[in-house]
Amino acid sequence: MSKYVIVGGNKLQGKVSIGGAKNAALAIIPASILTDGVCTIKNIPNISDVSLIANILADMNVNVRMVNKNTLEINPKNIIRKTPSYDLVRRIRASYYLLGALLGRFCSASVYLPGGCNFGVRPIDQHLKGFARLGANYKIDGGIVNVEAKQLIGTTIYLDVVSVGATINIMLSAVKAEGLTVIENAAKEPHVVDLANFLNSMGADVRGTGTDVIKIHGVKFLKGTSYSIIPDQIEAGTYMAAAVATKGDIIIKNIIPKHLEAIKSKLEEIGAKIEELEESIRVTCNNELTRCNIKTMPHPGFPTDMQPQISVLLSLAKGTSIVNESVWDNRFRYVEELRRMGANISVDGKISVVEGVDRLTGTLVKATDLRAGAALIIAGLTSSGETIIENIDHIDRGYENICKKLKGVGANIKEVSEKYQPPLPKAL
Ligand code: UD1
Repeated sequence: MSKYVIVGGNKLQGKVSIGGAKNAALAIIPASILTDGVCTIKNIPNISDVSLIANILADMNVNVRMVNKNTLEINPKNIIRKTPSYDLVRRIRASYYLLGALLGRFCSASVYLPGGCNFGVRPIDQHLKGFARLGANYKIDGGIVNVEAKQLIGTTIYLDVVSVGATINIMLSAVKAEGLTVIENAAKEPHVVDLANFLNSMGADVRGTGTDVIKIHGVKFLKGTSYSIIPDQIEAGTYMAAAVATKGDIIIKNIIPKHLEAIKSKLEEIGAKIEELEESIRVTCNNELTRCNIKTMPHPGFPTDMQPQISVLLSLAKGTSIVNESVWDNRFRYVEELRRMGANISVDGKISVVEGVDRLTGTLVKATDLRAGAALIIAGLTSSGETIIENIDHIDRGYENICKKLKGVGANIKEVSEKYQPPLPKAL
């Protein structure tokens, strides 16, 4: 297993380009089995989660191939109705989208309960409630979720919690159901809207995404399509935070500024100067960082997937900040690693209290999940000395070419293999 080795202190300067959105790709790739036609999906991020979901489809005899660096072609004409391999499914949370996609295609699905990042309990009761409301029966047997319907029939589904996954899964299963499906209290994330745009380009009739109420008029037939995925909001936010942490000056290209409003507003409160250009954003910071409070919320609130990264900035800000993680039960596992770098953070349940310190110091740390890993990279970029990050496979799940992109804006970061030995301390 490789590690990242970072020597902190360099200000990030220059331009970095953002790839396609991970969470949109992970919904859109399974959605392509709802047709027998060929789907060409552009702006696919080069990350391991995408390879995994593509391999799961290939395991079901779907013809999946990269036609160029960022374009995936999917031909599901010869798909086999089978339970996808546990060895693949357990590695990726979004494999549960196969439940909705297979149900939408065959009125039947059997998929192992998913794996993915560990933020505490991650129930799928709202997904199952949605399937049941559409007329499907489900049972969980030997770790496999089995869902089956004679016919899916549109209805109104009220989500008890705002869930991205349940909203997407219900959209996938309802798009070819008979009649009208209404999802109330739906998630409004940009990738929910992107999935609807993809489905509509196949001939679906999905309206209202980006609001609380989504209306889906079922259609009998979906055709193949060509579609380009939106840029990744969280990848962009991570580079924005890295620019602020290093007091740098970078232009982040290929973004949709509207998707970054919550992140931008908090970074400005902390001390960043942010200039919106047409499809890019310039982030500079010359000021001392200032404390602020953060509460993570479903979109358009501050995204939970940026909580660890912004907590690094708060660790270096003047004063005390309160971070309220309102989406996940247990998303502070990275704090222990940041403490080892000198951060002063205490955690009580879903709240953390961050006392700003003057500096962080490099040491050996491990990524506990994807965004925790991103936070440790940002911490390493600002720290004195050398930071070695283990378990970087978590980071590769969601950030394409992160080492190359960071080097491109002046970071001192390299990937080394397991045998790497940190240099011995210099003699005094
Ligand atoms: C997605 C994202 C993840 C992000 C999260 C919140 C993907 C692949 N992952 O995860 O990166 O952190 O949205 O923005 O897109 N819940 C229930 N019952 C359910 C479903 C969810 O109680 O049936 C709860 C969860 O425990 C959590 C909250 O709802 O507290 C939000 O979860 P959800 O939006 O479903 O997250 P994911 O779709 O799994």
